[in-house]
Amino acid sequence: MLQTPIDAQLVTEKIKESGLKEVGTATIREIKRLVDEIENASGQKYVRMEMGVPGLPPIEVGVQAEIDALKRGVAAIYPDIHGIPPLKSEISRFVKNFINIDVAPEGCIPTVGSMQGGFAAFLTLNRINTGRDKVLFLDPGFPVHKQQMQVIGFQYDSFDVYEYRGEKLRDKLESYLSTNTFSSILYSNPNNPSWICFTEKELQIIAEVTKKYGVIVMEDLAYFAMDFRKDLSKPGQAPYQPSVAQYTDDYILFISSSKAFSYAGQRIGMMVISDHLFKSEFPDLLRFYKNPKFGYTMIFGTLYALSSGTSHSAQYALTAILKAANDGELDFVKQVKAYGHKAHIMKKLFTDNGFKIVYDKDENEPIADGFYFTFSYPGMSGVELLNKLVYYGISAISLAITGSDRLEGIRACVSLVKESQFGDLEQRLKLFNEHHKS
Ligand SMILES: Cc1ncc(COP(=O)(O)O)c(C=O)c1O
Repeated sequence: MLQTPIDAQLVTEKIKESGLKEVGTATIREIKRLVDEIENASGQKYVRMEMGVPGLPPIEVGVQAEIDALKRGVAAIYPDIHGIPPLKSEISRFVKNFINIDVAPEGCIPTVGSMQGGFAAFLTLNRINTGRDKVLFLDPGFPVHKQQMQVIGFQYDSFDVYEYRGEKLRDKLESYLSTNTFSSILYSNPNNPSWICFTEKELQIIAEVTKKYGVIVMEDLAYFAMDFRKDLSKPGQAPYQPSVAQYTDDYILFISSSKAFSYAGQRIGMMVISDHLFKSEFPDLLRFYKNPKFGYTMIFGTLYALSSGTSHSAQYALTAILKAANDGELDFVKQVKAYGHKAHIMKKLFTDNGFKIVYDKDENEPIADGFYFTFSYPGMSGVELLNKLVYYGISAISLAITGSDRLEGIRACVSLVKESQFGDLEQRLKLFNEHHKS
């Protein structure tokens, strides 16, 4: 039996106790629980790359504004469902400053995390046109979005964009959207889990094909401005966060506060509905709602029914964060650049020890270093690799649960790994390679 960094007998015992069939097919939260158990029992720390949680403190100006708001008594008062006016104005300014798009404050709506924004959008978009009740996901993607579709009982389709980058994306999109059964499409950019970013050409293609078939684009900007190959940090100055919003009038953007502002705990995000879509009327909505206007229905139909608005104090926090960013007083990008720095070093540790980066290019350009990266080891599936890595004190998730066709792949999240663990990571990868190279 090979000597592994974590006692193999203990690991096997804990896997058995967990009731999991195998580690490689477990969900993120199941892996987290298993690794917590092994760490407690062994007293050894894992290089933990399974969960996409911020590894930085929350932005202080937000925390202070939230405390002040609570002291003023906002906890006792229902917030407006469509958001407090200063927040709506700051969101509108933010998208102008950092994406260079014009969206009226009425379409800038706080949600209970981007997660709720997505849920509300699925519910509403799949009802705007009879017969168009499916969402197309450009995968790999965030598994919880598919879970949302399953919970509601909606149908969806998806394909892995790996083989369809650049001009190839056009025909592939056509093949789905020409069926006229899709209300909308969704992708994240930068992408969770692969960290690919669509190029301007690809965003243009997405806009052209969706426009042709009357399909609404949902663009999930959970990792806003985190393509560190470009400096997206200066308000009102190019380059801007790339977005399909430059090329189409019918879109919804989801901007999360969780990663960009390390504000995941307060569950506040932004849903930004284009002016054109906000004002559009869809008589088919009357099957489910009282009003055919999209924006009105989103707010007073769907969001009212889901949570009747977003935490009042968190709205003040986000207002203060956005105001500071808009006024050029807060460089939020600088704060999260640490993720890119860590990814750069960690990717090299993997590739120096026999591993390969799976999603490695945006068309011809190497992908950025950021919050996630994907890796594989020759001759192994992602599931097999994860099953083995857990004995080497390394935890991550398989790409198989993200809609990826690259079944050899694993997603690594850099946020919780400390620089002080790089030595351990290197040793463990080296040992793994010694044990498994052919
Ligand atoms: C692609 C993507 N979308 C949405 C979310 C959820 O964001 P929020 O915390 O704002 O609900 C995440 C979080 O990991 C994500 O990776």
